[in-house]
Amino acid sequence: MLKGKCAIITGAARGIGKAIALKLASLGVNIVLNYRSSEEEAQKVAAQIEDMGVEVLTVKGDISKLEEAQNIMTKAKEKFEIIDIIVNNAGITKDTLLLRMKEEDFDNIIDVNLKGVFNCLKSITPIMVKQKHGKIINISSVVGVVGNAGQVNYAASKAGVIGMTKSLAKELGGRGINVNAVAPGFIETDMTSTLGDKVKEEAKKSIPLKRFGTPEDVADVVAFLASESSSYITGQVINIDGGMVM
Ligand SMILES: NC(=O)c1ccc[n+]([C@@H]2O[C@H](COP(=O)([O-])OP(=O)(O)OC[C@H]3O[C@@H](n4cnc5c(N)ncnc54)[C@H](OP(=O)(O)O)[C@@H]3O)[C@@H](O)[C@H]2O)c1
Repeated sequence: MLKGKCAIITGAARGIGKAIALKLASLGVNIVLNYRSSEEEAQKVAAQIEDMGVEVLTVKGDISKLEEAQNIMTKAKEKFEIIDIIVNNAGITKDTLLLRMKEEDFDNIIDVNLKGVFNCLKSITPIMVKQKHGKIINISSVVGVVGNAGQVNYAASKAGVIGMTKSLAKELGGRGINVNAVAPGFIETDMTSTLGDKVKEEAKKSIPLKRFGTPEDVADVVAFLASESSSYITGQVINIDGGMVM
């Protein structure tokens, strides 16, 4: 059902974004692969995607800057004309307790995780409105739903993404555009690789399915939300967390 469509994925050179790009490519979707600093990884993922027989456009860009976000969308439209799907995946962490959190630690996270998603939505929405169709999928986090000590900045940004998702779903529902979010729990990527073994073991105890998720676990749900199988779903946040938050 997704064959021949086009998807933009931000931060797709590694981690969850990479898994989403490869999953959608395996379903026949042409990919616009955004990266910020991981040039070599981006080229490797692009080569893997080409080997699957679909087209790929690689665009460098920092989504926290509106003009760079706009450039990703402009380049994508120039090449593929129709943009069916956008996955706002790029994100960062800078964890510490509020007592130690510097103003810049808060600002950096908000700039990328929240303003960056705004920049991409601001740039893609006119294109999708004109087309009269589109699927917008934002990557939030369960931390944005329930909070987490040491992540005041990150939780605020991810809760903001949920508010943005629901508001935009209401704005765009009449224009053939679905807007949803997924909220992953602990997923095995570079982002969680710095956690100590003790923290990981404790975390697993609070997960009914008793394991961390894989980037592919997230990619499978994103592929569903990108497909017509989810055409009557909008404004929702789907947890992908092994049952950690319910
Ligand atoms: N891993 C988890 O447990 C988990 C849980 C819940 C939610 N999430 C969310 O899932 C998303 C992906 O996380 P991940 O675990 O895959 O993280 P990751 O492995 O650290 O990858 C982060 C990605 O974001 C990109 N990025 C960062 N800042 C950017 C910017 N300003 N402009 C464009 N791209 C930027 C990076 O690109 P470069 O490498 O090119 O700089 C990289 O591809 C994030 O939004 C994260 O908050 C992750």
